[in-house]
Formats: sequence, C-alpha cells, structure tokens
Amino acid sequence: MSRQKYLIGNWKMNNTIAKTEQFLLNFEKQLNTSKTTVVIAPSFVSLSSASKVLKSDRVKLGAQNIAWEDSGAFTGEISGEMLKECKVTFCIVGHSERRQYFGESDETVNKRIKACLRQGINPVLCVGETLYERQHNMTNQTIKRQLQGAFDSIASQQAEKCIVAYEPVWAIGTGMSANEAQAGQVAGQIRDCLSVLYPSLYGQEIGQKICILYGGSANTKNASLFLNCADIDGLLVGGASLFVDDFLQLAHICESV
Ligand code: PGA
Repeated sequence: MSRQKYLIGNWKMNNTIAKTEQFLLNFEKQLNTSKTTVVIAPSFVSLSSASKVLKSDRVKLGAQNIAWEDSGAFTGEISGEMLKECKVTFCIVGHSERRQYFGESDETVNKRIKACLRQGINPVLCVGETLYERQHNMTNQTIKRQLQGAFDSIASQQAEKCIVAYEPVWAIGTGMSANEAQAGQVAGQIRDCLSVLYPSLYGQEIGQKICILYGGSANTKNASLFLNCADIDGLLVGGASLFVDDFLQLAHICESV
C-alpha cells in the first residue's frame, strides 16, 4: 500500500442493526469521494447486514477487534475468517478503550495484528499516551513502546499493510482534541520510529509508506488542521462518525485537503 487519504468511523458500542442499515443506505447514496478511502466500523452483530446493504466499494467495512486465534474454544471471540465473510477489510486493533477496560496489552495487540494479516485484513493500530504520560513527558517513550510491541516480528511487506492511528487517550470522547502542533509532532515521531530512528522498525522505504491517522475528538471544525500536517494521512473518528451529515462533511474535507 502507498500513502493515501483515510477516513475511518469507529462506532464503538453504538447503533443497532436497523440503525446501521439506515445510516449506510443514506450515507452511501450521498457520498462522493475518489481519493479518500472511507471505512465504517460498526458493531460485530451489524457487520453481516451492513455488508449486504452496501451497494458499492465506496464505503468499506471495518471491525473493532479480532481474535488472535483462527478458530477453536475461545468463547465470545470473533475470528478473522468470520470477519472476512462479512467483507471486512480493515480492523481497529489496540484501541485505548480496549487497553483500558479489557486488558489489551502490547503483546495481545501484536497477536491481533498478525491475525489480521493472515486474513488479508488491514490492521488499524491505535497508539497514544494518557494525560498522566503527557504531563510527565512520557509521550515519546509510550508511543515507542506501543509501536515496538505491536510490530514485533512483523515483516516489512506485512507492515506496509498496517495503518497507525495516533489517538491521545485524553482527547478521546472528551471534546478536547490535541492541537495540530501536538498531533503533527507525534505523527512525525511515529514515522521516525518506523523509518529513521536508530534502530528504526522498518527503514525509510516502508516507513514513508505507512499511513498515519489522527483520532481524538476530531470533527468537521478541526479536521482540516490535522489533515494539513505533513505526516497525517487521515482521521479515525468516533463521536462525529455517528451522524450522516457530519461524516459526509468529513469525507468531503478529506477530499479537498
Ligand atoms: P472520538 O473517538 O472521535 O469520539 O474522540 C475517537 C476514537 O476513539 O477512535
């Protein structure tokens, strides 16, 4: 994959099957994009009907998590093969809510990324510091640790298929987004970790190809500020992705920046 624009909606635990269908019908009809890959990640139970409602390839489906095993006795888990059957092509991995409430660790994030890659699903890896870490100048080390853990023993041809979302934990769902200087600086640091820092994870060629998104209270008012940062290729959006008009407007902002 090479660098391109992304707009990814993370619906979290919102919207029923019926509401998902309604949204997608309405949204797809009005969406007019050519440069931006638009992805919506509804709940697991909505994926199957969502895949049937969508008429074109303009809206792609994402999952919010994936089991690290391919099948077997893992009560409550959803495998990559099951997701593929629902036409899922992207999967959010390591979201801070999963790290915070469901015991997700750098090691399990790494296993889930590998499960995505085995199925040809593009992982959307979330990294980001807590407010405590930012206030104690620990942002760099947190991001570096999360990246090193997530990409452990993942070959470069596979790493290219990953997207990294910088989501400062303190900005998620709080209405207090990072400013463009903060987002741009950490996105740059992520690219440096991938490509030029010694020891870099992948070197320049691959590191320059991996798409980096910003997430955390992104909305129609601040979107273009983030999209104008050199290392930011798109947005991962929670709250504002739940409204057809806002998400359409965000897609059109992505197209025009
Ligand atoms: P938010 O969520 O846009 O509601 O802050 C972003 C996310 O959690 O991915």
